[in-house]
Amino acid sequence: MSGPGSYTNGPPRSVRISGWGSYVPERVLSNADLERIVDTSDEWIRSRTGIRERRVAAPHETTSTLGAIAAMRAIAVAGLSPDDIDVIVVATLTPDYPMPSTAVLVKEAIGNTTAAAFDLAAACSGFIYGYATADAFVRCGMARHVLVVGAELLTRFTDFSDRSTCILFGDGAGAVVLSASEETGGGLAGIEMTTDPDGAYMIWLPSGGSRSPSSLETARRGEHFIRMEGRETYRYATRTMATSALSVIAKAGWTPEEVDLFIPHQANIRIIEAVAKGLGLPMERMVINIDRYGNTSAASVAIALDEAVRGGRVKPGHKLVLFAFGAGFTSGAAALIWTADAADSDRSLAIKPVASIRAPLDWASVDPIPPRLAAVLADPAGPPVPLDDVVPGEPEPAQPARPQPAPSVVEAES
Ligand code: ACO
Repeated sequence: MSGPGSYTNGPPRSVRISGWGSYVPERVLSNADLERIVDTSDEWIRSRTGIRERRVAAPHETTSTLGAIAAMRAIAVAGLSPDDIDVIVVATLTPDYPMPSTAVLVKEAIGNTTAAAFDLAAACSGFIYGYATADAFVRCGMARHVLVVGAELLTRFTDFSDRSTCILFGDGAGAVVLSASEETGGGLAGIEMTTDPDGAYMIWLPSGGSRSPSSLETARRGEHFIRMEGRETYRYATRTMATSALSVIAKAGWTPEEVDLFIPHQANIRIIEAVAKGLGLPMERMVINIDRYGNTSAASVAIALDEAVRGGRVKPGHKLVLFAFGAGFTSGAAALIWTADAADSDRSLAIKPVASIRAPLDWASVDPIPPRLAAVLADPAGPPVPLDDVVPGEPEPAQPARPQPAPSVVEAES
């Protein structure tokens, strides 16, 4: 049967995480690399954010290829084949294209022929929203196995002349498979999702949508890059991360002390420290990998979950709280009881990057690394790229129109 299975109309089913996986590109961009293109320092970045380095996708990689590798790993861990998946949900704010959805391209890349596939836009909260969506599909009997992918290629939407944002973001993907289970207990114990439109323009990407279609003008003003009001976002994030976590813990009927592991969105170590302090818990209870990957938006919770399971920090019966916030402002939290055997992680060891997925349909046309970043990647030991003082988004003074040269005979004839 194509797409989600027929609606059973029976009692709600038990839903569990059966597979998990992640993938980050090989190339590391260190704080020292960034010191060479913007006026910043390793000390500033580490002390204000906790980030030491982040990953940058190779020219041949796209959001869908990152997501497809994470997806193949999660499907392998679940002991399934790609065609067992009924629904594919991809959470991303950096899709391959506005249309078609990145989920369609992930479906193609993993070789699935049956699933319904769609994208979900909730910025950094996307993986939590995707988890809630997938759980609902399986619980009500519309699907048996749902793949949730959080995938981002943020370095292609980052202004590498803006020091307040370019230090934060990195590329990567994480995925889980949610499956119907005959056994009761375990799985989702509570879900919390909030959306506060007051934050609509605190983190946004101005051009490329119906409000401001991409044009030479929007590109000249740098409106194809992410913009962010850092301080306001920080204040909101600190508040909402703590309240979302507390709210979902209350919905699950737990206390904060009972939670074995918190898996927060990795936006800033100081935000996570503030949440831990607010909950009265030590930082050891929080999963942290921001130092290695920076903020990977919708991928961050999924990557952190995968690493925590593989690292032996998650055991059957453990109470977990996944929580995130992001552009919108959106925020979300999921309380769940872990049921799977971490040893199943090894089933995905054979999934090798790129070789394990089908090449995208238009692989040859991909050549997208921003020039400023490309210069550093091409010559890590070379001289610094000269800094300029262009403030992103501020229009330059109008220039008088230049006289255009007359077309050559060949051009005029062709
Ligand atoms: N290096 C050196 N100095 C810097 C840098 C840098 N990379 N960036 C900013 N500064 C300077 C500023 O210019 C400012 O200088 P001034 O005092 O002379 O004006 C000073 O440092 C302090 O700037 P703040 O913006 O107040 O710095 P803050 O301590 O707030 O840290 C940061 C900035 C890291 C961005 C922080 O605000 C933050 O983490 N905000 C939350 C971001 C976030 O979580 N986003 C997640 C959502 S992203 C998404 O959904 C896609």
